[in-house]
Amino acid sequence: MRIDFDPAAMSRNEFYKLLTAVVVPRPIAWISTISPDCASANLAPHSFFSIASVAPPVVQFSSVGRKDTLRNVEATGQFVVNFSPAGLMAQINDTGADFPHGMSEFEAAGIESEPSLRVKPLRVAASPVALECEVHSTVGIGDSTVVFGRVVHAVVSQDVLVDGHPEVSRLKPLSRMGKNEWATVGDVRDLARIPYADWQGPAGDR
Ligand SMILES: Cc1cc2nc3c(=O)[nH]c(=O)nc-3n(C[C@H](O)[C@H](O)[C@H](O)COP(=O)(O)O)c2cc1C
Repeated sequence: MRIDFDPAAMSRNEFYKLLTAVVVPRPIAWISTISPDCASANLAPHSFFSIASVAPPVVQFSSVGRKDTLRNVEATGQFVVNFSPAGLMAQINDTGADFPHGMSEFEAAGIESEPSLRVKPLRVAASPVALECEVHSTVGIGDSTVVFGRVVHAVVSQDVLVDGHPEVSRLKPLSRMGKNEWATVGDVRDLARIPYADWQGPAGDR
């Protein structure tokens, strides 16, 4: 038996809870931005995050409502996606608190920053990866805004690289699940895509 859920017959929050419980796990982009006057360095987690395009390299995140991150992105055209490793879970969550407008989460949460190479927003010094982005475009959808950012520079800590490639066991990514759940990566398996020339029938029959 399957249970049906009709978004039109449910409240916004009820369906939001269902959606965020079933679109899992979601990577967490720890997004740093800067106010237009460069007075306030902002930092906030966003789990509505993915790759949007390969060439050009574009990532996307969604702001639900209008927050400082979105305002800064619209005003400056820049942001940085800092990678969210398991060891920084409490710090990442601290930066999701609803601090008053203009208060720097770097300062409030005691997060060490470092300058970016190609954009003005600061990077999180302890994060193993930073993707420096220039805004490509934004799309408003209802109460949310999807921000597409062209990655103009990437930096990766040497200690998460194996043969020059980022290694998941060293990155230790965090992800967002439903409710207030967070997750770390469990079993990692290797399975190559099958060229049709090598097709040997459905997996269940082999
Ligand atoms: C793990 C986690 C993931 C989140 N993901 C999102 C998201 O995808 N979009 C969003 O608008 N807010 C998200 N939030 C909430 C924002 O981080 C929060 O509203 C924050 O205060 C926004 O800060 P700002 O006003 O400085 O931009 C998330 C919070 C947490 C803890």
